[in-house]
Amino acid sequence: MDEKMLTHIGPKARRIIARDQAVMSPSYTRTHPLVIARGQGAEVWDADGRRYLDFTTGIAVTATGHAHPDVVQAIKDQADKFLHMSGTDFFYEVQVELAEKLVSIAPFSEPARVFFGNSGTEAIEAALKLARYHTGRPRMIGFLSSFHGRTMGSLGMTSSKHIQRKGFFAGGDGVVHVPFADDFRPALAAQGFSDYGERVVDYLEHTIFRTIAPPDEVAGILVEPIQGEGGYVVPTPGFFPALRDLCDRYGILLIIDEVQTGVGRTGKWWGIQHFGVEPDIIAVAKGIASGMPLGAMMAKAHLMTWEPGAHASTFGGNPVCCAAALATLRLLEDGMIDNAAKMGEYLMTRLKAIQTRHPIIGDVRGRGLMIGVDLVTDTQSRKPNRAAREAVVDECWERDLLLLGAGQSAIRVIPPLNITPALCDEMLEKFEQAITAVEPIHFAHAELNSAR
Ligand SMILES: Cc1ncc(COP(=O)(O)O)c(C=O)c1O
Repeated sequence: MDEKMLTHIGPKARRIIARDQAVMSPSYTRTHPLVIARGQGAEVWDADGRRYLDFTTGIAVTATGHAHPDVVQAIKDQADKFLHMSGTDFFYEVQVELAEKLVSIAPFSEPARVFFGNSGTEAIEAALKLARYHTGRPRMIGFLSSFHGRTMGSLGMTSSKHIQRKGFFAGGDGVVHVPFADDFRPALAAQGFSDYGERVVDYLEHTIFRTIAPPDEVAGILVEPIQGEGGYVVPTPGFFPALRDLCDRYGILLIIDEVQTGVGRTGKWWGIQHFGVEPDIIAVAKGIASGMPLGAMMAKAHLMTWEPGAHASTFGGNPVCCAAALATLRLLEDGMIDNAAKMGEYLMTRLKAIQTRHPIIGDVRGRGLMIGVDLVTDTQSRKPNRAAREAVVDECWERDLLLLGAGQSAIRVIPPLNITPALCDEMLEKFEQAITAVEPIHFAHAELNSAR
């Protein structure tokens, strides 16, 4: 950890970090020394009582804000009754009630079924297993810069940073990755295509299927509606309709990873609902239980052909987590999703206004409260400005504003879904101060001068 960072925090936090560093795995990234003691809504206080504005929500997890009283009460009430009874072997109503609720909001036009795990990666593993089991086909298609988790199956699909894969030798079993429908930094030449996403699907069909992945061996295509860890990249409008059509023509399952985009984050229940297509399977986690560990894989009911014993989890669908999820979904339904759409538009408009004053901001993109601000080295090449991104996040930290990076050069803006205009204004003010401090050092000087 950077010594300068440590000067920002008090003695209690410093002591806890020193103890941590002696016993915890060194594989965590932890670039900023926040030691949280308490949180409420979008605010957190550290071990020495310092207040921070949290626009990270524990990586898009605390959807209803820190410690929402309804969620806390639901957890306490369930904890008073029982903590665990293994949904693999027995039944409990709170789990059934949650499954019924999820099925009622699932993005399918036909009946669905739910499998519960404890995390995003487990939801993905379940989706991959079901797709193979149901189709009897071995291969999977994924997208470059995607993130789907770190257990071996999911890791084989993850491709956002090679450090996540290096040394683990994952993905040797029939996974092919193709570029994502990112028209801000397109990887493929696209002459003759009005929509870059259609070009990507064309490449999949006419290059990948023709050369290395026979389509009748492909079980599923796994894709995020908006790439999260890859840099908050929104695909072009033609991408998902073309992908759906491809899947239909070859009997391939369309598996949508809603782990980061799901449960209201984008201003709709599901990120895929912005793109007008219906998936076959979805994976959900993160925001679903406001911070309690829960993941769910949902599929059209006719696809859940696996037999008893084929897949299960000791802790998956834990009753306390299910109770927290039910309280979360009620809050989302009762106004927080609408607030996410409204405050998302507000933040997007204000961030785009900041972009007009600061050419280092190459792109502001997203849906609802999943917004990415991408920094470039210069406006012509749009090369990712990683150094500037790190510097902006550090400057925000100095101003007690918590933000996280995504991809090579984006900063993600992911407050809780009940964020207020006043806290958005506080964030915007600090964020522009940070950009103003960093831009003269990290942006092509000639361009900056001519923009002034
Ligand atoms: C889109 C997506 N899928 C899957 C995962 C993995 O979730 P978890 O860390 O809960 O295993 C993540 C985590 O960041 C994610 O963003």
